[in-house]
Amino acid sequence: MINLQSDHVKKRIFSGIQPTGNLHLGNYLGAIKNWVNLQNHISSIFSIVDLHAITVPQEPLKLKSSTHEVTAAIIASGIDINKSILFNQSSVKEHSELAWILNCVCRIGWLNRMTQFKEKAGKHKENATVGLYGYPVLMASDILLYKSTHVPVGDDQKQHIELVRDIASSFNNMFTPQNEPDFFTLPEPQIIGEATRVMSLRDGTKKMSKSDPSDASRVNLTDTKEEISNKIKKAKTDPFPLPDTLDELKNRPEAYNLLSIYSSLSDQTLEKALTEFSGKGFSHFKPKLIELAVETLNPISCEMRNLLKNTNEIDKILKDGELKAREIAEPVLKDVKKLVGFVN
Ligand code: TYM
Repeated sequence: MINLQSDHVKKRIFSGIQPTGNLHLGNYLGAIKNWVNLQNHISSIFSIVDLHAITVPQEPLKLKSSTHEVTAAIIASGIDINKSILFNQSSVKEHSELAWILNCVCRIGWLNRMTQFKEKAGKHKENATVGLYGYPVLMASDILLYKSTHVPVGDDQKQHIELVRDIASSFNNMFTPQNEPDFFTLPEPQIIGEATRVMSLRDGTKKMSKSDPSDASRVNLTDTKEEISNKIKKAKTDPFPLPDTLDELKNRPEAYNLLSIYSSLSDQTLEKALTEFSGKGFSHFKPKLIELAVETLNPISCEMRNLLKNTNEIDKILKDGELKAREIAEPVLKDVKKLVGFVN
């Protein structure tokens, strides 16, 4: 009989965001906006995943300032540190330790299926770091270290969460003692809302991304009113008025993308947003979208600038989050080590 100490929680969410470059509307609508709602209902943990960031080269000073910026953006968007735990991943060493153990559970064949690695490594696979290849195992560690049950993310992370379930299930089969409940609950992805995959403003078939060389392809959370307005004005469209049905809309990637953004920002279904604009041209629709985007994002960027005036305070917030996160993580990792058979 192994004496385990970590609790089985009913519901807990974990999610993370990389401190690389500017956060954009995709990060906000696909992830952070949902986190802000969920924190009122479920025990919530959010992390600035700096260990993930270094899977591709980072400039040390830039990594530090990006960590501050992303923390400020998350708080400015409405994450309340009295309700949620917010910390940077590298400050809780248990993430790396559990990741190693899970590396010894995850199979190479499973990682070989990951489309995001293929996209990120591109043609130069042999040159990619081992860290980039093993990236989803570190994600598994992030999620399982807190025995999280739900993971709110954008659509692009779905495959990674499926892998996390495979890893958790394999760990359970290998190590849960007979007649005991499974050690890890299999976490479920929560892909919520009308903008789960926000696309580039320049090409409605490409994901909006921090790494797109064209800044005009995305609306950043730090953009000024003028920048937001110019980018949406110049966003690629087609020459037709907005259609009457969702089926027609889905065949028009740019129109679909802009309307999804509108419906997510205005908290209404895509269908409802479509009834507001069907038959109208983009010259009518775009100013409404600009107004809504500015109204939502401008207070966030103002608050971000305010918070960034005092990075010591941001460091304190992260330190506090680290202590709270470790309280949960330590007993889970201790149990994992016992189950694996380590003597310590
Ligand atoms: P990252 O930093 O690329 O993105 C952070 C969150 O933003 C979502 N997202 C989008 N949603 C909609 N449309 C888009 N164009 C768009 N671009 C990004 C992402 O889906 C994500 O939810 N691997 C993760 C970070 C991570 C993590 C975790 C997430 C590390 N450990 C554990 C959940 C649980 C990533 O690179 O996200």
